[in-house]
Amino acid sequence: MNNSEYPEQDEISGVKKTQAPVYGVGDSTLQAAGGEQGVKKLVDAFYYYMDTIPVAAKVRAMHNPDLSESKAKLTTFLIGWMGGPSRYAELYGSINIPGAHSHLDIGLEEKNAWLLCMQKALDDQPYEETFKRYVMVQLSFPAEMCRNRR
Ligand code: HEM
Repeated sequence: MNNSEYPEQDEISGVKKTQAPVYGVGDSTLQAAGGEQGVKKLVDAFYYYMDTIPVAAKVRAMHNPDLSESKAKLTTFLIGWMGGPSRYAELYGSINIPGAHSHLDIGLEEKNAWLLCMQKALDDQPYEETFKRYVMVQLSFPAEMCRNRR
């Protein structure tokens, strides 16, 4: 197999490359996520789990009862974060993720609950296993930065 998602060989040096798909270059992450519609589905599933799984109840309670704005904001943010158009600032103003969460009480338990909702949401999507892991690893960094206590 030799396509752009699984580059086999460097064209100039002929050095064999990793078989791992390339994410994080240009909008490759957004494409792997199914484009903007795919991200919207992912965020809908994420908030579905936040709304229903008992371990996420505390994090759910930090949100507005109506989740529509949270969904719209997270979708817009993730589209830009995945290399797509960055509309977050023009729609909602500039954001730094840890700063946007500093007023919330986020410890290890809350961080893990947030990440669990994301893992479950990813598992519902028709994504490659490698892609789901890539997204989880990448999101674990800002999630850790949002934690403000043990
Ligand atoms: C670590 C666990 C996390 C928890 C418990 C959490 C919780 C929350 C809550 C409760 C809100 C609504 C805040 C409010 O209405 O005042 C929010 C907003 C938001 N979160 Fe998170 N979040 C977490 C991690 C993340 C991560 C990793 C990202 C993205 C990489 C993210 C992106 C956002 C965005 C874009 C908003 C909207 C910001 C705003 O307009 O204030 N969150 N989060």
